Amino acid sequence: MCGITARVGTDDALEELLTSLSNLEYRGYDSAGVALLDGDLDVCKCEGETDDLRAAVESRRPSGPIGLGHTRWSTHGPPTDENAHPHTGCSDRVAVVHNGIIENYESLRTELRSRGHEFTSDTDTEVVPHLIEERLDAGRDPEAAFREVVDVLEGSYAVALAVEDDDVVYATRNGSPLVVGIGQEANYLASDIPAFLEFTDRVVYLEDDEVAVVGPDDVRFTDVDGRPIVREPQTVDWAAGDAEKSGYNHYMLKEINEQPVALRQAVEGRTDPGAREIDLEDLPPGTFDDVERVLFVACGTSYHAAMYATSLLQRRGVAASTSLASEFANEPMPLDESTLVVAVTQSGETADTLAALREADRAGARTLAVTNVVGSTAAREVDDVCYIRAGPEIGVAATKTFSSQVATLGVLAERLRGDVGDGEPPDEAFLRGLERLPDAVDSILEANRTERIADSYAGMDSYFFIGRGIGYPVALEGALKFKEITYEHAEGFAAGELKHGPLALVTTETVVVAVFTGENDEKTLHNVREVQSRGAPVVAVAPESATEVHRAVDDVVEIPDAPEELSGLLSNVVLQLLSYHAADLRDRPIDKPRNLAKSVTVE
Ligand code: F6R
Repeated sequence: MCGITARVGTDDALEELLTSLSNLEYRGYDSAGVALLDGDLDVCKCEGETDDLRAAVESRRPSGPIGLGHTRWSTHGPPTDENAHPHTGCSDRVAVVHNGIIENYESLRTELRSRGHEFTSDTDTEVVPHLIEERLDAGRDPEAAFREVVDVLEGSYAVALAVEDDDVVYATRNGSPLVVGIGQEANYLASDIPAFLEFTDRVVYLEDDEVAVVGPDDVRFTDVDGRPIVREPQTVDWAAGDAEKSGYNHYMLKEINEQPVALRQAVEGRTDPGAREIDLEDLPPGTFDDVERVLFVACGTSYHAAMYATSLLQRRGVAASTSLASEFANEPMPLDESTLVVAVTQSGETADTLAALREADRAGARTLAVTNVVGSTAAREVDDVCYIRAGPEIGVAATKTFSSQVATLGVLAERLRGDVGDGEPPDEAFLRGLERLPDAVDSILEANRTERIADSYAGMDSYFFIGRGIGYPVALEGALKFKEITYEHAEGFAAGELKHGPLALVTTETVVVAVFTGENDEKTLHNVREVQSRGAPVVAVAPESATEVHRAVDDVVEIPDAPEELSGLLSNVVLQLLSYHAADLRDRPIDKPRNLAKSVTVE
């Protein structure tokens, strides 16, 4: 999704602005631009990558102490120089960057055209600078002009404005993320913290409709009516190095390798297996006594983690189900205060998930966010929040956050068991299994031989991932990751479903990756034999002790023996590595797969 950044200081903003834009690349983009303000505005923007922008900037060297930057992920109009942000009006007096969608842009554009404005782009954004210009012409000061224009915008947006001869940047948001960074030498603005994390770790998350006026020495905040408000900065506990590649070829590989640490952080201090107790910070025993059922809402990888958690809850006597957040509004279901709606979202900014949460809130349900990002919109809008503590994830393909979500949801399942489910105390073996996960993942990473497997099955037609029970969401996740970064055709199935249709597709050119968790493995072996008798090669991911599986398949990747409920998490690490190496062999842009964005802030 589009990334906004700004830097306001007294020295030249360009270099830090370009660094911030590079740091935002992971969000996904197809063009980029900057506007530098030093009395006059100088805009430089182009289709392509931030390196293309650097080259364009080299020849022009725009300079100034105030800078706006933008990475664009096309929604209205193709990736072209003209459609890249910042956008200016007819007279180049104002520069605007925007993330989100302005839903009423067509009517605004028609009105502006009738008043003589000429447009140079296809974007929804361009109406904003033209509207600002009109207000400035009518004698408004820039801040008043900004407020009036934002007031007529419909949709979801984060927007920032610089005006010639001014010395601040104006910014606001409605439904799209925006965070202010308070630095020593300068102040910053961005869609996400990694943009400016190397310059400051003191942040203020802007709330919807609040306006930030970012100056070189201070940042002023006002509410929707323009009344001053006090916002104290928080210090984020991410180190700048967390958002760097640290010698790895890709963020994805780095993040796969960070899973032992991430898992330790997710579980540490939250479990006491010997005492069969858990300590979930603000969610002590009894927190959910009034809850009768749990409904997860999530998208993509987080949806698979939610499916995994649903299974964990059902096994603990909790009535639980999972809904795709993007389908939530289409499947109205009875919700009231006895339903706990749990949004599982790494970023806490996914528009579909936020829409589902808001719908649940309107219906009177209790809401909980399980998220990675402190201060994200989801975290701020719910009744309760539980952090997965994975640290920043930059690769577009979610890896360590899936593992951290599952581990955190595992702890949560043990809390909900007491309050809503079978009333049993937390399961000692499961809690010990959670604590051993970091070591188990370490051993998978050390023994990794998926590169050879990826190589031996390159060039096949399709890749099917199958699993049952907890292995089913893992199969879905394995297929999602594989297709997302290799661009090969991959599908995930419940193992038992193959014979109800998909088997028709299986040929000698279909690789079947089978996930074995130690639970009902003999049934999954039947399904394996069904595909083998059609000539399909089978790769199994199975516990060390599953010797029968080892004998039955063409290739096997072992995972350490663990409680069955956790072996799915371990298998998924193997599938991440398999996807990574398959994509690397094909020379794909692993961290930034085509057409995808890290944080999907439009519905
Ligand atoms: C896939 C992936 C996406 C996200 C999905 C939800 O690798 O990363 O499917 O899982 O867009 O994102 P969050 O968790 O931020 O709500």
